[in-house]
Amino acid sequence: MSAQLNSHTATGLQQELNGLSIEASIAQLTSLYPGAVTFSTSFSYEDQVITDIIQTHALPVSIFTLDTGRLFPETYSTWSRTLEFYKTSIKAYYPDADILAEYIASHGPNAFYDSPELRSACCTIRKVLPLKKALAGNAIWITGLRAEHSHARQDLTTVEWDATNQIIKYHPLLHWTTDEVKEYIHQKAIPYNPLHDKGFVSIGCAPCTRAIKPGEDFRAGRWWWEDNSKKECGLHSHETEKN
Ligand code: ADX
Ligand code: SF4
Repeated sequence: MSAQLNSHTATGLQQELNGLSIEASIAQLTSLYPGAVTFSTSFSYEDQVITDIIQTHALPVSIFTLDTGRLFPETYSTWSRTLEFYKTSIKAYYPDADILAEYIASHGPNAFYDSPELRSACCTIRKVLPLKKALAGNAIWITGLRAEHSHARQDLTTVEWDATNQIIKYHPLLHWTTDEVKEYIHQKAIPYNPLHDKGFVSIGCAPCTRAIKPGEDFRAGRWWWEDNSKKECGLHSHETEKN
């Protein structure tokens, strides 16, 4: 399936979706690529909006999450509440147990604080390798990326070709503001991660995410002990240079 896709397909799709609502865009993608449209959720504000759109319109999109094993308790409870609210299922992908055990035996459980290399290796084991399994067989990967979240994300287009994963990514909320996201969540009274009320913007693993102060860069809450230029998780890898 993905062998037939490339950057031209992405450009064509971008034009095709131009002017359509998010639900109509996702519906169009699912009719073009039946059974091959998937959405990754980290249960953040924006991901909850997308889950709501998928569930409300009964769109045939599979939903998955990458359970790194180091998520916040609040994230796990948001995950549970989401399942109950929508009476749905969300597939979780996990790190390979042997690879993870070997890494921890060699470096310890909190090695991500020791060097950018060890941090990156942890992200590879806990996120990037499971992501590859989750994306296998799909043509379209929907994400909750937003331009406000980093400088690099401001240059993205809502539909883009991901050469690393050989898949087309669709970021329906790319140009939504934080206020628009919040308004949607509160108007529809859908479950959300309570950490957002405590200054957390982008919520990843507990040891690597912290709240930010008003005015601070949105990405300042992630891997704050690292030099900015080295910040990279690997899920959205083309952003490396500018993150
Ligand atoms: S990251 O690259 O810094 O980790 P970020 O937290 O901003 O990503 O989230 C951007 C998008 O990546 C989310 O909207 C979601 O689609 C996807 N994503 C991030 N973390 C996960 C996760 N643990 N499981 C599934 N999807 C995720
Ligand atoms: Fe490991 Fe931190 Fe990356 Fe999570 S964010 S996978 S704990 S280095």
